[in-house]
Amino acid sequence: MEKTLVFIKPDGVERGLVGTVLARFEQRGITVKRLELKQLTEAEVDAHYQEHLERDFYPNLKRYIMSGPIVVMVLAADNVIAIVRKMVGVTNSAEAEPGTIRGDYALTTQNNIIHASDSVASAEREMANFFG
Ligand code: PPS
Repeated sequence: MEKTLVFIKPDGVERGLVGTVLARFEQRGITVKRLELKQLTEAEVDAHYQEHLERDFYPNLKRYIMSGPIVVMVLAADNVIAIVRKMVGVTNSAEAEPGTIRGDYALTTQNNIIHASDSVASAEREMANFFG
């Protein structure tokens, strides 16, 4: 069965959306394999977003991701990476379809409340970063 790495970003945790988001995955039939509330260090954020370190938005993204604890999880199902990305919606929440997580609970690109791996390679790297 395929696995993916998902985390609810600090604003999602702060707004009390953990249960709501988790329920969507569970109701879809996706299995929660790991789940942890975690305050990321600078090194952990840099490791996770290694492809984006030089982007102009990165300092803001890092401040945002470190602004409070995240809830990080490993989800499993057949084809779970693509399924979860569809459920999450596009990066810019303002353009995310209603019915997606970002389309229902977020408004901007930065505060888009959730991260989900975009490929098998990213999922493996990200799961190793967070859970070894
Ligand atoms: S790209 O260009 O496709 O590689 O980037 P993308 O996958 O859309 O975004 C990578 C992550 O950076 C976040 N992001 C931003 N944060 C703050 N401000 C701005 N302007 C911004 N643009 C992109 C975006 O939410 C992605 O984070 P994750 O956690 O992967 O969703």
